[in-house]
Amino acid sequence: MATVDIAQLRKSYGHEEVIHGVDLSIKDGEFVSLIGASGCGKSTLLRMVAGLESISSGTIALNGRVINDVAPKNRDIAMVFQNYALYPHLTVAQNMGFSLKLRNVPTAQIRAEVEATAEFLGLKPYLERYPKALSGGQRQRVAMGRAIVRKPQVFLFDEPLSNLDAKLRVQMRIEIKSLQKRLGTTSIYVTHDQMEAMTMSDRIVILNGGRVEQAGAPLDVYDRPANLFVATFIGSPAMNLFDGVLAREGDKVFADIEGARIALPAAVEAASGTRIVLGVRPEHLSLGNSGSDEGTFPFEVSLIEPTGAESHIYGRSGGTDMILAMAGRSPLDAGDRVRLSADPALLHLFDKQTGKRL
Ligand SMILES: Nc1ncnc2c1ncn2[C@@H]1O[C@H](COP(=O)(O)OP(=O)(O)O)[C@@H](O)[C@H]1O
Ligand SMILES: [Mg+2]
Repeated sequence: MATVDIAQLRKSYGHEEVIHGVDLSIKDGEFVSLIGASGCGKSTLLRMVAGLESISSGTIALNGRVINDVAPKNRDIAMVFQNYALYPHLTVAQNMGFSLKLRNVPTAQIRAEVEATAEFLGLKPYLERYPKALSGGQRQRVAMGRAIVRKPQVFLFDEPLSNLDAKLRVQMRIEIKSLQKRLGTTSIYVTHDQMEAMTMSDRIVILNGGRVEQAGAPLDVYDRPANLFVATFIGSPAMNLFDGVLAREGDKVFADIEGARIALPAAVEAASGTRIVLGVRPEHLSLGNSGSDEGTFPFEVSLIEPTGAESHIYGRSGGTDMILAMAGRSPLDAGDRVRLSADPALLHLFDKQTGKRL
């Protein structure tokens, strides 16, 4: 059982504040990812939870008890680092049992715990090897094993897969997720990789410059990004954005953008004349309704990127860059001019001035 409650957390290095009042409550057993660009404060936030960085103000509570002044070794929290931080002169078994040895756990018990965890992680054949004789994925698993052996209340992961090649990264993200589900240990996972965050997490927290932009279940964030930052950060290829103006005609609502008038769901509340940004995901566009141009985006194709499973089709709509993602082979070629349409229910509308979702 472990909950983590972060309240109004701030961190300054000298006069420069890098974490600006973060609030975040993590439920028992939850897998939460902190995601954001390099330098946005992910590691700093995680290290504050681990006790490796001091807290400038605010509180971190574990199971309702504030731990701001509790030493790292007494927090019962285990951290897995990007570089694994294994001891090169110790075997896999010694690396995994190291924290238990520090706690003076009897040798026979350490051996039993290490073997059980090695079994669980498929590391049994490697227990007597040294880290230099392991592959990247095996080292990563030893680092996980070292954390698991401690049976901590909370796991913290700081970009643990960044040093692995693409294929192994996918395999390890599945392993870590199923491991966490089996153990049920509350986990905070830091990554700059949105695909990792989306696929592994119960909840993602999008950080930007030391502030939380949005927190929510991955698909809720994808479906309803709270602002323009999140709209363009989550989703790949990124959401298309069009500057425009909201228009009303009777009970109908439209977005007037360059070269098109796009129908919006009637429930939109903003006033006529509001300056807006209209968003549409590349995967929600399809080749337009034949005959009428009404309600469709003009599109001139400039470049096709085939990926095999899908095609990313780049071009311009009016004066704006636009990407269309289609399953399989592209039916379009560079130079083609077509119309594209999208289900109004899948369009996103933001206030141009505040960037907030309307
Ligand atoms: N020890 C430090 N001294 C001064 N500034 C630091 C220190 N550690 C991190 N920072 C700054 O804090 C910000 C957040 O860093 P970090 O948490 O490492 O970002 P991330 O992990 O998201 O890439 C960055 O601007 C970084 O330069
Ligand atoms: Mg970092």
